[in-house]
Amino acid sequence: MLIEGSIVRAVEISDKNPKAWIFRLNNGGEYSTHLGRIDHDRIIGSKYGSIINLTKGKIIILKPTPREFIRSFSLKTQIMYEDDCAIACSVAGIGNGMRVGEAGTGSGALTTFLAWAVAPDGHVYSFDNNEKHLNNARQNLQLTGLQDNITLKLHDIRESVDIPELDAFFLDFSTPYEAINSVTRNLKSGGHLVCFVPNWGQVEQIIEVINLNPELILQRVFEINKRDFNVNPKKHIMRPKFRSIVYSGILIHAIKILS
Ligand SMILES: C[S@@+](CC[C@H](N)C(=O)[O-])C[C@H]1O[C@@H](n2cnc3c(N)ncnc32)[C@H](O)[C@@H]1O
Repeated sequence: MLIEGSIVRAVEISDKNPKAWIFRLNNGGEYSTHLGRIDHDRIIGSKYGSIINLTKGKIIILKPTPREFIRSFSLKTQIMYEDDCAIACSVAGIGNGMRVGEAGTGSGALTTFLAWAVAPDGHVYSFDNNEKHLNNARQNLQLTGLQDNITLKLHDIRESVDIPELDAFFLDFSTPYEAINSVTRNLKSGGHLVCFVPNWGQVEQIIEVINLNPELILQRVFEINKRDFNVNPKKHIMRPKFRSIVYSGILIHAIKILS
């Protein structure tokens, strides 16, 4: 049952570009939309999946997923989009109770996915050397309700950090090869190193550093492609979109061995 403090996503019921809003429920609270005012008290006590009538339309109340949190974020940096985050998490087998590191925090997109995956018992240590980015990410992450599972730190990850025995470390910035040796010291043996970059030149530099590090073994290098579809059952349309982002980046995965 939804209670005061629950985070909800209200989605317009419409065939044409339905709008959606994410907010936290407060007793007596309200949220203004073009369909009319949403009174929080009408949602408190109901369940996810409930349909609410507003003055000019209907909304459905849903539980937000990491994708929807990310889509509502203020973006001050490039981010890892949901499919890339999900693949990165699955490559390293991220799940409840794990302790993971990440740099840079950027806008907090991957941080959200990681925290969602390790909650309720795990923790994400996320580092960025740009204070403005970190503050923006902190603001974004407030809405997710996952703050207890996240520590944000202003830090240049090329310099060592004292957080040992991490299950995985994720690097998403332009020169990850400069930080690989440093973060490998934070990994437990059998832990995962995952780098995400857009250019092959960066991949070559990453592989060179991994190969020279006796504690790391390269596992996989692959690019992430996807093709979105246009679907309209009424008009019998189901075909790839003419315009879509088909390439996002290259993922490099290595594991730390017992030395
Ligand atoms: C592409 S963004 C990361 C996006 C993030 N993964 C997300 O999904 O929102 C790169 C971030 O790395 C940070 N950065 C660059 N070099 C860094 C370093 N040496 N140490 C820590 N953070 C760094 C930048 O300030 C920037 O915020």
